[in-house]
Amino acid sequence: DVPQIGYTEKVMDHFMHPRNVGAVADPDGVGQVGNPVCGDLMEVSIKVEKDVITDIKFKTFGCGSAIATASMVTELAKGKTLDEAEKISRQDVADELDGLPPRKMHCSNLAADALHKAIEDYRKKTETG
Ligand code: FES
Ligand code: FES
Repeated sequence: DVPQIGYTEKVMDHFMHPRNVGAVADPDGVGQVGNPVCGDLMEVSIKVEKDVITDIKFKTFGCGSAIATASMVTELAKGKTLDEAEKISRQDVADELDGLPPRKMHCSNLAADALHKAIEDYRKKTETG
């Protein structure tokens, strides 16, 4: 058995088998966030059709918790409208994973923040102004 060190089974599953790793081809929106303290980075790219996120992928230099939360964020966001995806909060992600150790909450913020930035990026590009 793998020692879990306070991680839930869901976190371990998403860490060992992350979903949607990489970058979508020809993205409609890209969001990058970094934690300046530690230098960890997260990038989320999205494809959007008629206001729905049809594809989403992530890349990160972060730790296992960052990988697991990003994997979960991509699963939550795929198929959602932009308005729905925008409402996916840092807490939603942690809840979906049945919790994260408190000292790892900052890592889980990277993915939700990068998703929100990717949506912002898409909206900026498509604004007809
Ligand atoms: Fe840096 Fe988690 S992303 S420690
Ligand atoms: Fe950098 Fe956790 S230590 S995000």
